[in-house]
Amino acid sequence: MQQPDLRVLIPRQDIAAKVQEMGETLSRDYRGKEVLLVVVLRGAALFAADLCRCIEADVVIDFIAVSSYGSSTSSSGVVRFLKDLDESVESRHVLIVEDIVDTGLTLAYLMENLKSRHPQSLRTCTLLDKPSRRRVDLRPDYVGFTIDDLFVVGYGLDWDQRYRHLPDICIHSEK
Ligand code: IMP
Repeated sequence: MQQPDLRVLIPRQDIAAKVQEMGETLSRDYRGKEVLLVVVLRGAALFAADLCRCIEADVVIDFIAVSSYGSSTSSSGVVRFLKDLDESVESRHVLIVEDIVDTGLTLAYLMENLKSRHPQSLRTCTLLDKPSRRRVDLRPDYVGFTIDDLFVVGYGLDWDQRYRHLPDICIHSEK
Protein backbone atom coordinates (compact mmCIF):
# COMPACT_ATOMS: atom_id res chain seq x y z
CA MET A 1 0.00 0.00 0.00
CA GLN A 2 1.27 3.43 -0.86
CA GLN A 3 2.02 5.61 2.16
CA PRO A 4 0.12 8.86 2.18
CA ASP A 5 1.92 12.08 2.98
CA LEU A 6 1.49 13.23 6.55
CA ARG A 7 2.07 16.89 7.22
CA VAL A 8 1.97 18.29 10.74
CA LEU A 9 -0.93 20.66 11.24
CA ILE A 10 -0.87 21.02 15.02
CA PRO A 11 2.38 20.11 16.76
CA ARG A 12 2.38 18.30 20.10
CA GLN A 13 3.43 21.33 22.12
CA ASP A 14 0.49 23.36 20.79
CA ILE A 15 -1.85 20.48 21.64
CA ALA A 16 -0.45 20.28 25.17
CA ALA A 17 -0.83 24.04 25.70
CA LYS A 18 -4.41 23.98 24.41
CA VAL A 19 -5.38 20.98 26.54
CA GLN A 20 -3.97 22.74 29.61
CA GLU A 21 -5.95 25.88 28.76
CA MET A 22 -9.15 23.87 28.26
CA GLY A 23 -8.55 22.11 31.56
CA GLU A 24 -8.24 25.45 33.33
CA THR A 25 -11.51 26.65 31.81
CA LEU A 26 -13.26 23.43 32.81
CA SER A 27 -11.80 23.66 36.32
CA ARG A 28 -13.36 27.10 36.66
CA ASP A 29 -16.71 26.06 35.19
CA TYR A 30 -17.06 22.88 37.27
CA ARG A 31 -15.50 24.17 40.48
CA GLY A 32 -17.13 22.51 43.49
CA LYS A 33 -19.05 20.09 41.29
CA GLU A 34 -18.62 16.55 40.14
CA VAL A 35 -18.34 16.21 36.38
CA LEU A 36 -18.93 12.97 34.50
CA LEU A 37 -16.72 12.86 31.43
CA VAL A 38 -18.37 10.81 28.70
CA VAL A 39 -15.47 9.93 26.44
CA VAL A 40 -16.39 8.88 22.91
CA LEU A 41 -14.27 5.92 21.87
CA ARG A 42 -11.95 5.42 20.30
CA GLY A 43 -10.72 8.74 19.03
CA ALA A 44 -11.23 10.89 22.11
CA ALA A 45 -9.41 8.52 24.46
CA LEU A 46 -6.00 10.20 24.12
CA PHE A 47 -7.38 13.73 24.39
CA ALA A 48 -9.49 12.77 27.41
CA ALA A 49 -6.53 11.11 29.12
CA ASP A 50 -4.57 14.37 28.94
CA LEU A 51 -7.53 16.66 29.57
CA CYS A 52 -8.80 14.94 32.72
CA ARG A 53 -5.39 15.42 34.33
CA CYS A 54 -5.75 19.18 33.84
CA ILE A 55 -9.17 19.43 35.50
CA GLU A 56 -9.26 20.43 39.13
CA ALA A 57 -12.72 19.28 40.11
CA ASP A 58 -14.29 15.94 41.01
CA VAL A 59 -13.97 13.96 37.81
CA VAL A 60 -15.60 10.65 36.98
CA ILE A 61 -14.72 9.07 33.64
CA ASP A 62 -16.84 6.75 31.55
CA PHE A 63 -16.68 5.62 27.94
CA ILE A 64 -19.17 5.24 25.15
CA ALA A 65 -18.63 3.77 21.70
CA VAL A 66 -20.83 4.44 18.72
CA SER A 67 -20.84 3.40 15.12
CA SER A 68 -22.87 4.30 12.10
CA TYR A 69 -25.56 2.07 10.72
CA GLY A 70 -24.85 0.93 7.20
CA SER A 71 -22.68 3.16 5.07
CA SER A 72 -21.36 6.12 7.01
CA THR A 73 -22.29 8.21 9.98
CA SER A 74 -22.03 11.36 7.97
CA SER A 75 -24.48 10.18 5.33
CA SER A 76 -27.08 8.55 7.55
CA GLY A 77 -26.84 10.46 10.84
CA VAL A 78 -27.98 7.29 12.54
CA VAL A 79 -25.59 5.77 15.00
CA ARG A 80 -25.80 2.67 17.14
CA PHE A 81 -24.17 2.03 20.46
CA LEU A 82 -21.30 -0.41 20.46
CA LYS A 83 -20.71 0.27 24.13
CA ASP A 84 -23.03 2.13 26.42
CA LEU A 85 -22.06 3.93 29.61
CA ASP A 86 -21.62 2.03 32.83
CA GLU A 87 -22.49 5.12 34.87
CA SER A 88 -25.95 6.57 35.29
CA VAL A 89 -26.32 10.05 33.84
CA GLU A 90 -29.39 11.06 35.81
CA SER A 91 -28.99 14.27 37.83
CA ARG A 92 -25.29 14.55 37.03
CA HIS A 93 -23.17 17.18 35.32
CA VAL A 94 -22.23 15.47 32.08
CA LEU A 95 -19.52 16.58 29.66
CA ILE A 96 -19.23 14.72 26.36
CA VAL A 97 -15.59 14.59 25.23
CA GLU A 98 -15.05 14.23 21.48
CA ASP A 99 -11.94 14.28 19.33
CA ILE A 100 -13.50 16.04 16.37
CA VAL A 101 -16.88 17.43 15.35
CA ASP A 102 -17.36 17.23 11.62
CA THR A 103 -20.95 17.08 10.31
CA GLY A 104 -22.09 17.15 13.94
CA LEU A 105 -24.46 14.21 13.41
CA THR A 106 -22.73 11.91 15.89
CA LEU A 107 -22.63 14.51 18.64
CA ALA A 108 -26.21 15.61 17.98
CA TYR A 109 -27.37 12.02 18.29
CA LEU A 110 -25.39 11.47 21.47
CA MET A 111 -26.74 14.66 23.02
CA GLU A 112 -30.33 13.68 22.30
CA ASN A 113 -29.74 10.24 23.73
CA LEU A 114 -28.06 11.47 26.90
CA LYS A 115 -30.61 14.26 27.38
CA SER A 116 -33.35 11.67 27.54
CA ARG A 117 -31.57 10.19 30.58
CA HIS A 118 -32.13 13.46 32.51
CA PRO A 119 -28.68 14.79 33.38
CA GLN A 120 -28.51 17.89 35.59
CA SER A 121 -26.44 19.54 32.88
CA LEU A 122 -25.09 18.43 29.53
CA ARG A 123 -22.21 20.11 27.72
CA THR A 124 -19.87 19.16 24.91
CA CYS A 125 -16.14 19.49 24.55
CA THR A 126 -14.11 18.74 21.43
CA LEU A 127 -10.45 19.12 20.64
CA LEU A 128 -11.10 19.85 16.95
CA ASP A 129 -14.01 21.46 15.17
CA LYS A 130 -14.70 21.55 11.43
CA PRO A 131 -17.68 23.94 11.32
CA SER A 132 -17.63 24.23 7.53
CA ARG A 133 -18.86 20.63 7.27
CA ARG A 134 -21.74 20.97 9.72
CA ARG A 135 -25.08 19.43 8.76
CA VAL A 136 -26.91 20.18 11.98
CA ASP A 137 -27.16 23.34 14.05
CA LEU A 138 -24.67 22.46 16.77
CA ARG A 139 -21.93 24.43 18.44
CA PRO A 140 -19.82 22.56 21.00
CA ASP A 141 -19.47 24.37 24.34
CA TYR A 142 -15.69 23.91 24.48
CA VAL A 143 -13.52 23.81 21.35
CA GLY A 144 -9.75 23.40 21.19
CA PHE A 145 -8.93 24.19 17.58
CA THR A 146 -11.16 25.18 14.68
CA ILE A 147 -9.78 23.72 11.47
CA ASP A 148 -10.57 23.84 7.76
CA ASP A 149 -12.13 20.98 5.84
CA LEU A 150 -9.10 18.68 6.08
CA PHE A 151 -8.81 15.03 7.00
CA VAL A 152 -6.56 14.82 10.01
CA VAL A 153 -4.95 11.95 11.91
CA GLY A 154 -2.91 11.52 15.06
CA TYR A 155 -3.46 12.16 18.78
CA GLY A 156 -6.30 9.62 18.73
CA LEU A 157 -7.66 10.33 15.26
CA ASP A 158 -7.39 7.57 12.73
CA TRP A 159 -7.52 6.70 9.09
CA ASP A 160 -8.71 3.12 8.83
CA GLN A 161 -7.62 2.57 12.46
CA ARG A 162 -4.09 3.76 11.76
CA TYR A 163 -2.10 6.77 13.00
CA ARG A 164 -3.95 7.18 16.30
CA HIS A 165 -0.64 6.97 18.17
CA LEU A 166 1.02 9.92 16.40
CA PRO A 167 1.81 12.66 18.92
CA ASP A 168 1.09 15.50 16.48
CA ILE A 169 -2.13 16.15 14.56
CA CYS A 170 -1.30 15.69 10.88
CA ILE A 171 -3.03 16.28 7.58
CA HIS A 172 -3.68 13.05 5.73
CA SER A 173 -3.23 13.53 2.02
CA GLU A 174 -5.72 10.90 0.85
CA LYS A 175 -8.96 12.74 1.42
P1 IMP B 1 -19.44 13.72 12.59
O1 IMP B 1 -19.45 13.87 11.09
O2 IMP B 1 -19.39 15.04 13.29
O3 IMP B 1 -20.62 12.87 13.02
O4 IMP B 1 -18.13 12.95 12.97
C1 IMP B 1 -18.09 11.56 12.94
C2 IMP B 1 -16.75 11.01 13.22
O5 IMP B 1 -16.00 11.07 12.01
C3 IMP B 1 -15.84 11.68 14.23
O6 IMP B 1 -16.11 11.37 15.56
C4 IMP B 1 -14.50 11.09 13.80
O7 IMP B 1 -14.34 9.81 14.35
C5 IMP B 1 -14.66 11.00 12.31
N1 IMP B 1 -13.94 12.10 11.63
C6 IMP B 1 -14.44 13.22 11.11
N2 IMP B 1 -13.46 13.98 10.57
C7 IMP B 1 -12.32 13.30 10.78
C8 IMP B 1 -10.93 13.56 10.47
O8 IMP B 1 -10.55 14.60 9.89
N3 IMP B 1 -10.04 12.61 10.85
C9 IMP B 1 -10.38 11.47 11.50
N4 IMP B 1 -11.66 11.20 11.81
C10 IMP B 1 -12.61 12.10 11.45
